[in-house]
Amino acid sequence: MYNNIVILTGAGISAESGISTFRDSGGLWANYRVEDVATPEGFDRNPDLVHNFYNKRRSELASVRPNEAHIALVALELNIKGSVLVVTQNVDDLHERAGSQNLLHMHGELLKVRCERCGEVIRTHESFNKDSVCQSCKRSGGLRPDIVWFGELPKYMDEISFALAGCDLFISIGTSGAVYPAAGFVQVARGAGAHTVELNLERSEGASLFHERIYGKATEVVPKYVKELLM
Ligand code: APR
Repeated sequence: MYNNIVILTGAGISAESGISTFRDSGGLWANYRVEDVATPEGFDRNPDLVHNFYNKRRSELASVRPNEAHIALVALELNIKGSVLVVTQNVDDLHERAGSQNLLHMHGELLKVRCERCGEVIRTHESFNKDSVCQSCKRSGGLRPDIVWFGELPKYMDEISFALAGCDLFISIGTSGAVYPAAGFVQVARGAGAHTVELNLERSEGASLFHERIYGKATEVVPKYVKELLM
């Protein structure tokens, strides 16, 4: 029925795996100031505060697992005739660990660290500080989380724009629709003539932009929706 499906995921798809969301009560932004831990200026001001914020979240990955919603998206990718692209705002590795192949991390990844001196990006579970040495150029002081901070350009925007322009189904899962450009993807998909669906715990800021809205926990509504798509 659908040939090109683009799925946008946000923190809500990982919530039932035990990973904090950002804007729910008790979420990350209730405990940290965005400007301190998620901006280049915050990193310049206090690099170790930022390194520790990501070190903690990186170390937590070892104790969480993909949930039924992540797994349902893999079943969709494997069993539907058309193409499925997951564009995630999340920096955890739960989509990969569930088995998603066609996946883009538009806000970067917790398990990647980038050297500003030589450009090397390394995949690691280790913790870092402002004096950590780059294994590639052997210089210290240049390593930062390979995360897209506020004020920085999201990754893979060309690929994402191309996929949205050609999709016939756009599904948004577990995102508040608070942050652009991700929050605007639904409008691009609508412009391309796609059917647009929001699967979320509650109405997002962009809820009215979707043709279809299904509310509930991701581990309940996502497998159910995927099952219907595969019938
Ligand atoms: N099932 C489905 N949806 C859920 C669940 C759940 N179990 N729990 C929470 N949600 C929904 C919330 O209702 C909310 O709409 O997930 C959404 C989470 O919203 P945010 O915390 O704002 O996370 P997200 O939309 O991913 O944030 C986008 O903001 O701070 C930046 O870079 C950060 O990628 C992040 C971006």
